[in-house]
Amino acid sequence: MEGVTDPAFRAVMLALHEPENLGGSTTEFVRVVDHAVPRHILTENLGPVVSPIPVGLQLMGNDSVALAATAARVSETNARFIDLNFGCPAKGTLRGCAGAALLKEPATIERIVAAVRASSGSLPVSAKIRAGYEHARDVEQLARAVEAGGADGLTVHCRTRAEGYADAVDWSRIARAVSAVQIPVCGNGGVLAHADIARMRAETGCRYVMIGRAALANPWIFSGYNATRAEAFRFVRRYMQVMEERSAVARRHFSGRVKQLISFLHPNFLAEDERAALLHEQDVEVLVAKIEAAAR
Ligand SMILES: Cc1cc2nc3c(=O)[nH]c(=O)nc-3n(C[C@H](O)[C@H](O)[C@H](O)COP(=O)(O)O)c2cc1C
Repeated sequence: MEGVTDPAFRAVMLALHEPENLGGSTTEFVRVVDHAVPRHILTENLGPVVSPIPVGLQLMGNDSVALAATAARVSETNARFIDLNFGCPAKGTLRGCAGAALLKEPATIERIVAAVRASSGSLPVSAKIRAGYEHARDVEQLARAVEAGGADGLTVHCRTRAEGYADAVDWSRIARAVSAVQIPVCGNGGVLAHADIARMRAETGCRYVMIGRAALANPWIFSGYNATRAEAFRFVRRYMQVMEERSAVARRHFSGRVKQLISFLHPNFLAEDERAALLHEQDVEVLVAKIEAAAR
């Protein structure tokens, strides 16, 4: 997730889990414009390998030649798969006709997947779509475009681009995609609790489940472990430590990332007035001290 799941975050998250509970994760999207992305950008996004849990590199763009050239470079990194983003609804992305903008052009999606597939060697390629742009009438067509391009897997975020990140979800759209293709489908959207993982699989027939925001709210959602408040704050503290150890972000700069994580934390772990106080804290040393205290 862009702006959140950087390598430091992933290192802390993956350390909590076994591959049986958490089968994979991806980098934040890497934007591909009109030329191959330099290898150092790809490796920076991936970070070092810290867990047996596979990490894929997510690419987003609309230029199939540049995407294919980037994919060839990805196959020389430690990425375990390539994921193509056809779901990002951000305005800048749409203006660049990438991400969710391509949901209006299934033929382009197929062409991009095919180009990336052809240049990725033995690396598996997956693609992530939303259920549609304005409406979900064509979710089968979009799923088939991904399959026809040769993807090894498909993730369906069940909201349309128009629905953004609305609370309401319609998982029957995932079931429709599952029925339309032979490749494994990963369902996404509106999983709020551990029990929802089994429920989504049962209701839609999807093989895998992807969890976005609820995993930031509760990093243990994949295993169903009931973490305490102190454990949740130790997670935040560990994230700060790893960022510092890797010097990816200087201490005075990392408070933005830490606050973003705190803004997502489940209400079970902190009262709303405490969350507000942490989010408004301007002094990074005081912020760190408050997190240390909560982690004890
Ligand atoms: C802050 C934020 C950043 C995101 N960045 C990405 C991204 O880089 N790539 C991607 O495929 N999806 C991204 N997403 C979408 C999520 O992966 C997921 O599809 C969406 O939040 C729906 O799942 P959820 O209801 O479990 O949160 C992002 C979502 C949020 C809220």
